[in-house]
Amino acid sequence: MSEPDSRFDTRCVHAGQRPDPTTGAIMTPVYFTSTYVQQGLNRHLGFEYARTRNPTRDAVEGNLAALEGAEHGIAFASGMAAIQTLLELLSQGDHLVLGDNVYGGTFRLVDKVMTRLGLAYTQVDTADAAALAGALRPETKLVLLETPTNPMLSLTDIAATRDLLRGAASPALLVVDNTFATPFNQMPLELGADAVLHSTTKYLNGHSDSVGGVIVTRDGELAARLRFLQNAAGAILSPMEAWLILRGTKTLHLRMERHNASALAIARWLEARPDLQRVVYPGLESHPQHALARAQMKGFSGIVSFDTGDPERTRRMAERFRLFALAESLGGVESLVCHPATMTHGSVPEADRRRLGISDSLLRLSVGVEDIEDLVADLEQVLRA
Ligand SMILES: Cc1ncc(COP(=O)(O)O)c(C=O)c1O
Repeated sequence: MSEPDSRFDTRCVHAGQRPDPTTGAIMTPVYFTSTYVQQGLNRHLGFEYARTRNPTRDAVEGNLAALEGAEHGIAFASGMAAIQTLLELLSQGDHLVLGDNVYGGTFRLVDKVMTRLGLAYTQVDTADAAALAGALRPETKLVLLETPTNPMLSLTDIAATRDLLRGAASPALLVVDNTFATPFNQMPLELGADAVLHSTTKYLNGHSDSVGGVIVTRDGELAARLRFLQNAAGAILSPMEAWLILRGTKTLHLRMERHNASALAIARWLEARPDLQRVVYPGLESHPQHALARAQMKGFSGIVSFDTGDPERTRRMAERFRLFALAESLGGVESLVCHPATMTHGSVPEADRRRLGISDSLLRLSVGVEDIEDLVADLEQVLRA
Protein backbone atom coordinates (compact mmCIF):
# COMPACT_ATOMS: atom_id res chain seq x y z
CA MET A 1 0.00 0.00 0.00
CA SER A 2 1.56 3.32 -0.97
CA GLU A 3 1.58 6.08 1.63
CA PRO A 4 -0.93 8.42 -0.04
CA ASP A 5 -3.45 5.53 -0.09
CA SER A 6 -3.08 4.68 3.57
CA ARG A 7 -5.17 6.14 6.37
CA PHE A 8 -4.00 8.60 9.00
CA ASP A 9 -3.13 6.09 11.74
CA THR A 10 -1.05 4.01 9.33
CA ARG A 11 0.74 7.10 8.07
CA CYS A 12 1.63 8.02 11.68
CA VAL A 13 3.50 4.73 12.04
CA HIS A 14 5.04 4.33 8.58
CA ALA A 15 5.04 7.43 6.37
CA GLY A 16 8.45 8.66 5.26
CA GLN A 17 10.21 5.58 6.64
CA ARG A 18 11.47 2.26 5.30
CA PRO A 19 13.78 -0.36 6.74
CA ASP A 20 17.41 0.76 6.57
CA PRO A 21 18.71 -0.49 3.20
CA THR A 22 22.14 -1.46 4.56
CA THR A 23 21.05 -3.57 7.58
CA GLY A 24 17.28 -3.96 7.47
CA ALA A 25 16.96 -2.10 10.78
CA ILE A 26 13.24 -1.42 11.03
CA MET A 27 13.74 1.97 12.73
CA THR A 28 15.30 4.84 10.80
CA PRO A 29 18.89 5.28 12.05
CA VAL A 30 20.08 8.61 13.44
CA TYR A 31 22.57 9.67 10.76
CA PHE A 32 25.11 11.69 12.70
CA THR A 33 27.21 12.91 9.81
CA SER A 34 28.16 16.27 8.38
CA THR A 35 29.23 15.09 4.93
CA TYR A 36 28.93 12.15 2.51
CA VAL A 37 31.59 10.38 0.47
CA GLN A 38 31.11 10.93 -3.27
CA GLN A 39 31.76 8.26 -5.89
CA GLY A 40 33.42 10.70 -8.25
CA LEU A 41 33.07 14.27 -9.40
CA ASN A 42 29.35 15.04 -9.62
CA ARG A 43 28.57 11.41 -8.70
CA HIS A 44 26.92 10.87 -5.32
CA LEU A 45 23.84 9.29 -3.72
CA GLY A 46 21.87 12.55 -3.48
CA PHE A 47 23.54 13.62 -0.25
CA GLU A 48 26.42 16.12 -0.40
CA TYR A 49 26.43 18.10 2.86
CA ALA A 50 24.22 17.74 5.94
CA ARG A 51 22.97 21.34 6.09
CA THR A 52 21.29 20.57 2.78
CA ARG A 53 20.09 16.99 3.43
CA ASN A 54 20.23 14.31 6.09
CA PRO A 55 18.51 10.91 5.79
CA THR A 56 16.91 11.06 9.28
CA ARG A 57 15.61 14.55 8.52
CA ASP A 58 14.35 13.34 5.12
CA ALA A 59 12.34 10.65 6.94
CA VAL A 60 10.68 13.02 9.40
CA GLU A 61 9.96 15.52 6.61
CA GLY A 62 8.24 12.78 4.62
CA ASN A 63 6.33 11.65 7.69
CA LEU A 64 5.07 15.11 8.69
CA ALA A 65 4.18 16.03 5.09
CA ALA A 66 2.12 12.83 4.77
CA LEU A 67 0.28 13.51 8.05
CA GLU A 68 -0.89 16.91 6.78
CA GLY A 69 -1.76 15.55 3.32
CA ALA A 70 1.16 17.50 1.81
CA GLU A 71 3.85 16.48 -0.67
CA HIS A 72 6.75 18.48 0.72
CA GLY A 73 8.02 18.96 4.26
CA ILE A 74 10.92 21.09 5.48
CA ALA A 75 12.04 20.55 9.09
CA PHE A 76 13.63 23.34 11.11
CA ALA A 77 15.59 23.78 14.33
CA SER A 78 12.50 25.23 16.05
CA GLY A 79 9.01 26.47 15.32
CA MET A 80 10.42 29.99 15.33
CA ALA A 81 13.10 29.04 12.77
CA ALA A 82 10.29 27.74 10.53
CA ILE A 83 8.39 31.02 10.94
CA GLN A 84 11.49 33.10 10.30
CA THR A 85 12.17 31.21 7.06
CA LEU A 86 8.54 31.64 6.03
CA LEU A 87 8.85 35.40 6.60
CA GLU A 88 12.03 35.47 4.52
CA LEU A 89 9.84 34.71 1.50
CA LEU A 90 8.83 38.37 1.77
CA SER A 91 10.88 41.33 0.58
CA GLN A 92 11.24 44.92 1.67
CA GLY A 93 7.96 46.75 1.12
CA ASP A 94 5.83 43.59 1.23
CA HIS A 95 2.95 43.46 3.71
CA LEU A 96 2.03 40.67 6.12
CA VAL A 97 -1.30 40.10 7.86
CA LEU A 98 -0.86 38.42 11.22
CA GLY A 99 -3.53 37.01 13.52
CA ASP A 100 -3.98 39.26 16.56
CA ASN A 101 -3.48 36.43 19.06
CA VAL A 102 -0.56 34.54 17.51
CA TYR A 103 2.17 33.06 19.70
CA GLY A 104 4.11 35.87 21.42
CA GLY A 105 7.39 34.75 19.85
CA THR A 106 5.85 35.06 16.37
CA PHE A 107 4.70 38.59 17.16
CA ARG A 108 8.13 39.49 18.61
CA LEU A 109 9.95 38.22 15.51
CA VAL A 110 7.68 40.22 13.20
CA ASP A 111 7.48 43.36 15.31
CA LYS A 112 11.05 43.60 16.60
CA VAL A 113 13.10 41.98 13.84
CA MET A 114 11.36 41.75 10.47
CA THR A 115 10.07 45.33 10.52
CA ARG A 116 13.70 46.52 10.80
CA LEU A 117 14.29 44.79 7.48
CA GLY A 118 11.44 46.68 5.81
CA LEU A 119 8.49 44.34 6.30
CA ALA A 120 5.14 46.03 6.99
CA TYR A 121 2.47 44.18 8.93
CA THR A 122 -1.06 44.51 10.27
CA GLN A 123 -2.42 42.48 13.17
CA VAL A 124 -6.07 41.64 12.92
CA ASP A 125 -8.64 39.29 14.41
CA THR A 126 -8.64 36.78 11.55
CA ALA A 127 -11.90 35.31 12.89
CA ASP A 128 -13.55 38.54 11.74
CA ALA A 129 -13.79 38.30 7.92
CA ALA A 130 -14.63 42.00 7.49
CA ALA A 131 -11.64 43.05 9.59
CA LEU A 132 -9.40 40.69 7.63
CA ALA A 133 -10.68 42.01 4.29
CA GLY A 134 -10.03 45.56 5.53
CA ALA A 135 -6.43 44.71 6.42
CA LEU A 136 -5.51 43.40 2.95
CA ARG A 137 -3.44 45.66 0.70
CA PRO A 138 -2.25 45.20 -2.88
CA GLU A 139 1.21 44.42 -1.45
CA THR A 140 -0.05 41.83 1.07
CA LYS A 141 1.92 38.67 0.30
CA LEU A 142 1.19 36.48 3.32
CA VAL A 143 -1.57 35.86 5.86
CA LEU A 144 -0.32 33.91 8.87
CA LEU A 145 -2.84 32.77 11.45
CA GLU A 146 -3.35 30.28 14.26
CA THR A 147 -6.56 28.37 14.85
CA PRO A 148 -7.29 27.63 17.67
CA THR A 149 -5.37 30.52 19.24
CA ASN A 150 -3.49 30.44 22.52
CA PRO A 151 -4.85 30.64 25.22
CA MET A 152 -8.32 31.96 24.26
CA LEU A 153 -8.96 29.15 21.73
CA SER A 154 -10.57 31.42 19.19
CA LEU A 155 -11.08 29.88 15.73
CA THR A 156 -10.72 31.18 12.19
CA ASP A 157 -12.73 29.66 9.34
CA ILE A 158 -9.89 28.43 7.10
CA ALA A 159 -11.99 27.71 3.98
CA ALA A 160 -13.76 31.11 4.20
CA THR A 161 -10.37 32.83 4.62
CA ARG A 162 -9.05 30.99 1.56
CA ASP A 163 -12.09 32.19 -0.46
CA LEU A 164 -11.62 35.75 0.75
CA LEU A 165 -7.95 35.75 -0.25
CA ARG A 166 -8.65 34.22 -3.67
CA GLY A 167 -11.08 37.05 -4.34
CA ALA A 168 -8.57 39.73 -3.27
CA ALA A 169 -6.93 42.04 -5.81
CA SER A 170 -3.54 40.45 -5.28
CA PRO A 171 -3.86 37.01 -3.68
CA ALA A 172 -1.64 36.35 -0.66
CA LEU A 173 -0.36 33.01 0.60
CA LEU A 174 -2.45 31.58 3.43
CA VAL A 175 -0.36 29.81 6.06
CA VAL A 176 -1.91 28.17 9.12
CA ASP A 177 0.03 27.43 12.29
CA ASN A 178 -1.57 24.07 13.14
CA THR A 179 0.44 23.48 16.32
CA PHE A 180 -2.55 23.49 18.67
CA ALA A 181 -4.89 21.33 16.59
CA THR A 182 -2.44 18.86 14.94
CA PRO A 183 -3.36 17.12 11.66
CA PHE A 184 -5.23 14.49 13.69
CA ASN A 185 -7.87 17.13 14.43
CA GLN A 186 -7.58 19.61 11.56
CA MET A 187 -6.14 19.52 8.03
CA PRO A 188 -5.70 23.11 6.80
CA LEU A 189 -4.38 22.07 3.36
CA GLU A 190 -7.66 20.22 2.71
CA LEU A 191 -9.43 23.49 3.55
CA GLY A 192 -7.34 25.46 1.05
CA ALA A 193 -4.32 26.74 3.01
CA ASP A 194 -1.14 27.05 0.92
CA ALA A 195 1.11 25.79 3.69
CA VAL A 196 0.93 24.58 7.28
CA LEU A 197 3.50 25.09 9.97
CA HIS A 198 4.10 23.56 13.36
CA SER A 199 6.18 23.91 16.41
CA THR A 200 6.90 20.15 16.51
CA THR A 201 8.05 20.84 20.07
CA LYS A 202 4.40 20.41 21.09
CA TYR A 203 2.01 17.58 20.10
CA LEU A 204 3.92 16.17 17.11
CA ASN A 205 6.94 15.26 19.19
CA GLY A 206 4.62 14.91 22.14
CA HIS A 207 7.11 14.02 24.88
CA SER A 208 8.57 17.43 25.84
CA ASP A 209 12.06 16.29 24.93
CA SER A 210 12.90 18.14 21.72
CA VAL A 211 12.51 21.53 20.05
CA GLY A 212 11.71 21.68 16.34
CA GLY A 213 9.53 23.09 13.60
CA VAL A 214 8.21 22.14 10.17
CA ILE A 215 6.51 23.70 7.14
CA VAL A 216 4.55 21.45 4.78
CA THR A 217 2.93 22.27 1.45
CA ARG A 218 1.60 20.72 -1.77
CA ASP A 219 3.17 23.54 -3.81
CA GLY A 220 6.51 22.37 -5.24
CA GLU A 221 7.63 25.85 -6.19
CA LEU A 222 6.92 27.21 -2.69
CA ALA A 223 8.76 24.23 -1.16
CA ALA A 224 11.79 24.89 -3.39
CA ARG A 225 11.90 28.54 -2.30
CA LEU A 226 11.71 27.52 1.37
CA ARG A 227 14.43 24.89 0.90
CA PHE A 228 16.65 27.46 -0.77
CA LEU A 229 16.18 29.84 2.18
CA GLN A 230 16.78 27.08 4.73
CA ASN A 231 19.94 25.94 3.01
CA ALA A 232 21.13 29.53 2.67
CA ALA A 233 20.73 30.28 6.38
CA GLY A 234 20.97 26.81 7.94
CA ALA A 235 18.24 26.60 10.62
CA ILE A 236 17.98 22.83 10.18
CA LEU A 237 16.51 20.20 12.50
CA SER A 238 19.24 18.00 14.00
CA PRO A 239 19.19 14.25 13.22
CA MET A 240 18.59 13.39 16.90
CA GLU A 241 15.58 15.70 17.08
CA ALA A 242 14.32 14.31 13.77
CA TRP A 243 14.47 10.81 15.25
CA LEU A 244 12.66 11.88 18.43
CA ILE A 245 9.84 13.41 16.37
CA LEU A 246 9.60 10.23 14.28
CA ARG A 247 9.23 8.25 17.49
CA GLY A 248 6.61 10.76 18.67
CA THR A 249 4.41 10.71 15.58
CA LYS A 250 4.19 6.90 15.68
CA THR A 251 1.69 7.38 18.51
CA LEU A 252 0.22 10.76 17.52
CA HIS A 253 -3.19 9.26 16.72
CA LEU A 254 -3.33 7.39 20.04
CA ARG A 255 -2.18 10.35 22.08
CA MET A 256 -4.52 12.82 20.39
CA GLU A 257 -7.52 10.56 20.98
CA ARG A 258 -6.76 10.64 24.70
CA HIS A 259 -5.87 14.38 24.76
CA ASN A 260 -9.19 15.13 23.01
CA ALA A 261 -11.28 12.91 25.27
CA SER A 262 -9.69 13.98 28.56
CA ALA A 263 -9.73 17.69 27.71
CA LEU A 264 -13.42 17.51 26.78
CA ALA A 265 -14.21 15.66 30.01
CA ILE A 266 -12.26 18.21 32.07
CA ALA A 267 -13.85 21.18 30.26
CA ARG A 268 -17.32 19.75 30.99
CA TRP A 269 -16.39 19.06 34.62
CA LEU A 270 -15.05 22.61 35.07
CA GLU A 271 -18.08 24.12 33.36
CA ALA A 272 -20.42 22.36 35.78
CA ARG A 273 -18.76 24.10 38.75
CA PRO A 274 -20.54 27.17 40.06
CA ASP A 275 -17.35 28.90 41.29
CA LEU A 276 -15.71 29.58 37.90
CA GLN A 277 -16.45 32.59 35.75
CA ARG A 278 -15.67 31.07 32.37
CA VAL A 279 -14.42 27.85 30.79
CA VAL A 280 -13.08 28.02 27.23
CA TYR A 281 -12.85 24.92 25.05
CA PRO A 282 -13.95 24.63 21.39
CA GLY A 283 -15.66 21.32 22.15
CA LEU A 284 -18.10 22.92 24.61
CA GLU A 285 -21.51 23.94 23.25
CA SER A 286 -20.96 27.25 25.08
CA HIS A 287 -17.91 28.11 22.93
CA PRO A 288 -19.03 30.95 20.63
CA GLN A 289 -17.56 29.14 17.61
CA HIS A 290 -18.58 25.61 18.53
CA ALA A 291 -20.39 25.13 15.19
CA LEU A 292 -17.23 26.10 13.27
CA ALA A 293 -15.16 23.83 15.53
CA ARG A 294 -17.43 20.90 14.66
CA ALA A 295 -17.26 21.69 10.95
CA GLN A 296 -13.53 22.31 10.73
CA MET A 297 -12.08 20.02 13.39
CA LYS A 298 -12.40 16.31 14.05
CA GLY A 299 -11.58 16.72 17.75
CA PHE A 300 -10.82 19.78 19.85
CA SER A 301 -7.32 19.00 21.15
CA GLY A 302 -5.96 19.08 24.68
CA ILE A 303 -5.94 22.73 25.75
CA VAL A 304 -8.57 24.07 28.17
CA SER A 305 -8.57 27.61 29.60
CA PHE A 306 -10.61 28.76 32.58
CA ASP A 307 -11.09 31.98 34.47
CA THR A 308 -11.87 32.06 38.18
CA GLY A 309 -12.65 35.79 38.06
CA ASP A 310 -10.35 36.24 41.09
CA PRO A 311 -6.65 36.92 40.35
CA GLU A 312 -5.55 36.13 43.92
CA ARG A 313 -7.37 32.80 43.96
CA THR A 314 -5.88 31.94 40.56
CA ARG A 315 -2.35 32.72 41.75
CA ARG A 316 -2.77 30.52 44.80
CA MET A 317 -4.25 27.74 42.70
CA ALA A 318 -1.41 27.85 40.16
CA GLU A 319 1.06 26.85 42.88
CA ARG A 320 -1.04 24.10 44.49
CA PHE A 321 -1.31 21.57 41.68
CA ARG A 322 0.24 18.18 42.44
CA LEU A 323 -0.10 16.41 39.08
CA PHE A 324 -0.40 19.31 36.60
CA ALA A 325 3.12 20.80 36.47
CA LEU A 326 3.43 24.58 36.46
CA ALA A 327 5.30 25.13 33.18
CA GLU A 328 5.22 26.83 29.80
CA SER A 329 4.78 24.81 26.58
CA LEU A 330 2.07 22.24 25.90
CA GLY A 331 1.24 19.11 23.97
CA GLY A 332 3.32 16.56 25.89
CA VAL A 333 2.08 13.35 27.49
CA GLU A 334 2.26 15.02 30.91
CA SER A 335 -0.32 17.56 32.07
CA LEU A 336 0.79 21.16 32.50
CA VAL A 337 -0.80 24.29 33.92
CA CYS A 338 0.22 27.80 32.95
CA HIS A 339 -0.73 31.31 34.07
CA PRO A 340 -0.67 33.08 30.68
CA ALA A 341 -0.68 36.64 32.05
CA THR A 342 2.67 36.16 33.83
CA MET A 343 4.14 33.27 31.82
CA THR A 344 3.51 32.75 28.09
CA HIS A 345 1.94 36.18 27.55
CA GLY A 346 3.95 38.18 30.10
CA SER A 347 5.51 40.28 27.34
CA VAL A 348 2.14 41.17 25.76
CA PRO A 349 1.13 44.71 26.84
CA GLU A 350 -1.60 44.66 29.51
CA ALA A 351 -4.09 46.52 27.30
CA ASP A 352 -3.69 43.90 24.56
CA ARG A 353 -4.03 41.08 27.08
CA ARG A 354 -7.25 42.61 28.36
CA ARG A 355 -8.63 43.03 24.83
CA LEU A 356 -7.87 39.38 24.06
CA GLY A 357 -9.44 38.16 27.32
CA ILE A 358 -6.14 37.06 28.90
CA SER A 359 -6.98 38.22 32.41
CA ASP A 360 -4.87 37.79 35.56
CA SER A 361 -7.39 35.20 36.75
CA LEU A 362 -7.02 32.91 33.71
CA LEU A 363 -5.29 29.51 33.81
CA ARG A 364 -4.48 27.34 30.80
CA LEU A 365 -4.29 23.57 31.07
CA SER A 366 -2.46 21.29 28.68
CA VAL A 367 -4.29 18.06 29.44
CA GLY A 368 -1.96 15.08 29.22
CA VAL A 369 -2.62 11.37 28.88
CA GLU A 370 -2.64 10.41 32.57
CA ASP A 371 -5.68 8.74 34.16
CA ILE A 372 -8.59 11.17 33.88
CA GLU A 373 -9.72 10.48 37.45
CA ASP A 374 -6.30 11.49 38.80
CA LEU A 375 -6.39 14.68 36.73
CA VAL A 376 -9.88 15.59 37.97
CA ALA A 377 -8.86 14.79 41.57
CA ASP A 378 -5.94 17.21 41.23
CA LEU A 379 -8.21 19.95 39.88
CA GLU A 380 -10.71 19.26 42.63
CA GLN A 381 -8.17 19.59 45.45
CA VAL A 382 -6.86 22.82 43.93
CA LEU A 383 -10.31 24.34 43.49
CA ARG A 384 -11.40 23.27 46.99
CA ALA A 385 -8.32 24.68 48.75
C1 LIG B 1 1.47 28.12 18.15
C2 LIG B 1 2.96 28.18 18.25
N1 LIG B 1 3.67 28.43 17.13
C3 LIG B 1 5.03 28.51 17.17
C4 LIG B 1 5.72 28.36 18.36
C5 LIG B 1 7.22 28.46 18.37
O1 LIG B 1 7.78 27.20 18.41
P1 LIG B 1 9.19 26.83 19.09
O2 LIG B 1 9.05 27.10 20.56
O3 LIG B 1 9.34 25.38 18.75
O4 LIG B 1 10.22 27.69 18.46
C6 LIG B 1 5.02 28.09 19.54
C7 LIG B 1 5.74 27.91 20.81
O5 LIG B 1 5.17 27.88 21.88
C8 LIG B 1 3.59 28.02 19.48
O6 LIG B 1 2.87 27.79 20.58
